[in-house]
Amino acid sequence: MSIRLSDGREIPIEMHKIRIVQKVRLAPVRDRLRAIEEAGYNTFLLRTRDIFMDMLTDSGTNAMSDNQLGAMMVSDDAYAGSESFYRLQDAVNDIFGLAYLLPAHQGRAAEHLLAKTFVKPGKVVPMNYHFTTTKAHFELAGGTVLELYTPEALNTQSTCPFKGNMDLGRLEAAIREHGVENVAFVRMEATTNLIGGQPFSLANLREVKKLIGPMGIPLVIDASLISENAYFIHEREEGYQNTSIRDIIREMMAQVDICYLSGRKSCAVRGGFIATNNRKHYEAIRPWLPVYEGFFTYGGMSSKEVEAMAVGVREMTELEVAGSSADMIRYFAERLIANNVPVVTPPGGLACHLDAMRFVPHIPQLQYPAGALAAAVYLTSGIRGMERGTVSMDRDKEGNDVPSDMELLRLAVPRRVFTMSHIEYAVDRVKWLLGHAGLIGGLKFCEEPPVLRFFAGKMEALGSWGDKLAEAFEKDFGPNC
Ligand code: F0G
Repeated sequence: MSIRLSDGREIPIEMHKIRIVQKVRLAPVRDRLRAIEEAGYNTFLLRTRDIFMDMLTDSGTNAMSDNQLGAMMVSDDAYAGSESFYRLQDAVNDIFGLAYLLPAHQGRAAEHLLAKTFVKPGKVVPMNYHFTTTKAHFELAGGTVLELYTPEALNTQSTCPFKGNMDLGRLEAAIREHGVENVAFVRMEATTNLIGGQPFSLANLREVKKLIGPMGIPLVIDASLISENAYFIHEREEGYQNTSIRDIIREMMAQVDICYLSGRKSCAVRGGFIATNNRKHYEAIRPWLPVYEGFFTYGGMSSKEVEAMAVGVREMTELEVAGSSADMIRYFAERLIANNVPVVTPPGGLACHLDAMRFVPHIPQLQYPAGALAAAVYLTSGIRGMERGTVSMDRDKEGNDVPSDMELLRLAVPRRVFTMSHIEYAVDRVKWLLGHAGLIGGLKFCEEPPVLRFFAGKMEALGSWGDKLAEAFEKDFGPNC
């Protein structure tokens, strides 16, 4: 929620109070330099003790509610037939309108089960944009991911409210080219994570369904950020300003054949699931659940998380919960823009994204500008963000780097975790860094795993620029900041 102040400014307002806190430490700049060097300039390899604000992700890092924590205390640990499962099933049925539920330990586990069941060699999976784990699973199963976004999707300086829309013309052409029988399913990601958490409209979802429904192609929704996508529909799509988040989610689900999600985001728990009303799809996926995840009534999740998810699924439909990070992100983005920092617009659903191509235009794409910016932001602020650019793309079959469509530094805003002072601090340090962007140099890999290299790969700074940046920072702020 946002609130208007008497001077006309609009600020995000927290509709909760903080009752449990976790201490953080702001390590001095020289310690941060040592930490990022030891981490191979990869923010994934930093340790919590060296991080002041953890903006790596909103995955599993959101603040849980008192009701979620309370529910965890009454969970049923039965291996089979757990009452916790039935409470989650009731919630999914109630909120999503979906009857059959298959729990999984997290989102990528759901993707694995879908890949195992539907994606075969030679099959294609059209989608509005890929996510890293999605692409890895579908390709490992022998499929090909087709990204059929609209031209506006990759424009980082856009005012288009629905950059996550599927391009219907491209979808139709792709189905014609590959043949209906070779399309495993069409996947719509609710707020396209990698291009800035950008939503699709309900009108677009309906059009996709209208096109593929009569062909018998299933429509799959990745609902990991469903409450944010619904919030943006509520805010931006004509005719939905008086529709509740709950009703918007119901309307979205009425279009889809299979819904899956990572519960670590909108639901604020560590788990995931697949849900559907289609008994045939359910029965096709179900046999794999105990093979890879766990028994049907826990699917690899702890029963405590199952209980917390049953509460989280309901709470995410409250307007102030659905908008809790989106409103903070909008404020964050607006403050950065006011300081000439290049960010992706419109502000999206999970993070504020800095556009590295404009922040450090002197760094060539194959020297990983977004990776370098992630390291530089950490070095100057203790804020850990996540590279979402070429480092996040694995090499092609010939071993060549694949330049990413965008070079973004994602500064995630987990729900109900940071305060306004944190955001103001982040704005200030990023602004300082922009004034010293010329000091930032490129990176090169020194240790590189073959799959999802961004998680564990190590890099080094070309020309020891970390030292020079730390020196400039120390000159302005002293050694203890
Ligand atoms: N789909 C989307 C849209 C996601 O954002 C994620 C995870 C997944 C699937 C996989 O789910 O992590 O529970 O296995 N996104 C996290 C992130 C990792 O940091 O954005 P998972």
